[in-house]
Amino acid sequence: MTKFRAAIVGLGFGAEFIPIYQQHPNAEMFAICQRNPEQLKKVGDAFGIERRYRDYQELLRDPDVDFVHINTPIPDHAEMSIAALKAGKHVACTVPMATSVADCKRIVELCQETGLKYMMMETVVFSREFLFVKQMLQKGELGKLQFLQASHQQDMDGWPGYWPGLPPMYYATHCVGPMLGLPQKDAEYVSCFGSGTIREEMIGIYNSPFAVETAHIKLRDSDLSARIIRSLFDTARQYRESIDVYGSKQAFEWPLIEGEHAVVHTAKRPEHEIPQRVEVPDFAHLLPEPIRAFTTQGVYDMAANEHLSFTQGGGHGGSHPHLVHEFLSALKEDREPWPNAKQSANWTCVGILAHESAMAGGERRDLPDWTFSE
Ligand SMILES: NC(=O)c1ccc[n+]([C@@H]2O[C@H](COP(=O)([O-])OP(=O)(O)OC[C@H]3O[C@@H](n4cnc5c(N)ncnc54)[C@H](O)[C@@H]3O)[C@@H](O)[C@H]2O)c1
Repeated sequence: MTKFRAAIVGLGFGAEFIPIYQQHPNAEMFAICQRNPEQLKKVGDAFGIERRYRDYQELLRDPDVDFVHINTPIPDHAEMSIAALKAGKHVACTVPMATSVADCKRIVELCQETGLKYMMMETVVFSREFLFVKQMLQKGELGKLQFLQASHQQDMDGWPGYWPGLPPMYYATHCVGPMLGLPQKDAEYVSCFGSGTIREEMIGIYNSPFAVETAHIKLRDSDLSARIIRSLFDTARQYRESIDVYGSKQAFEWPLIEGEHAVVHTAKRPEHEIPQRVEVPDFAHLLPEPIRAFTTQGVYDMAANEHLSFTQGGGHGGSHPHLVHEFLSALKEDREPWPNAKQSANWTCVGILAHESAMAGGERRDLPDWTFSE
């Protein structure tokens, strides 16, 4: 059995993946890394991991590590991914890939130069709702795809570090990923409007005034466009990561309130029979048996920032074991993971360029052609 040695960097959200790698038949949960020694010890002892690093560069010099899974704060993702690829390690990295177009390009180039694999660990495209609507599309139930939209709204007041004042579209992959991932298309160009104003004290941090940013994405080689909505501050809305997909025969709509069932609309029925609530099934059967339970166990409590959760999955639509399995399968089969570096760059650059567009009054921004798959 081929086993790849995993090193997880950043042990907040990152710690949730440890037991999944420990159970996956193609992984050896080998090393952990974070700067705080108490947390490093706590996590290492709890999960029985001997190889521990406080210094990321030292970890990269360890010849026994095959890949890093990066879960550090957003501003560090690109630099850490670039350093890992230069050190000869495959990279799985939480979202977003980077905060600049130039850094996305560097990662794509390094993957091309080295042949190493890069995957952005976008949770929404492995959530059970996404897998459900993908199945509807593949079975032909949706008919012809006509339009897609997604929202990601969260009140980040009080979050530390780089969060205060962050332009909403800098963290847009939860919306962009499913819009491009479902029809398997690249984004060609984007236009974004800013709306409303956040509190004065936050505006100057990134010179970003908007409470809400909404963008339209034109999909390349397609008649489709998609709309995405993001807000982070001073906008009343329950946490929401939603996907709506409209086809000629059927449509899928995310519930308005968390905990309610999604709605499937079917065309050409009496009006009151068009919408029907559906219970979205779990897709654990797609996974190796030892990690199936992780699609439904527990919820990561983001508000409490619970750092040592032994259960995971439920909080992000059961996506975590699917992400791990996709990345390890790509390593084992020596194929590109999904999303690979180019696709991750296309998804991430939509957000970066959307914010640029909003700051320029909605001007169209074209995606760079090195982000296109073909
Ligand atoms: N649905 C999702 O995809 C999802 C959900 C939650 C978090 N995230 C992402 O995961 C990342 C981490 O989120 P979090 O809430 O755990 O943040 P956090 O700030 O609680 O944890 C960050 C971790 O990184 C470590 N770290 C920071 N700099 C380091 C360095 N130079 N070397 C080694 N370790 C370092 C810290 O010690 C800490 O363990 C963020 O980028 C966040 O956006 C994604």
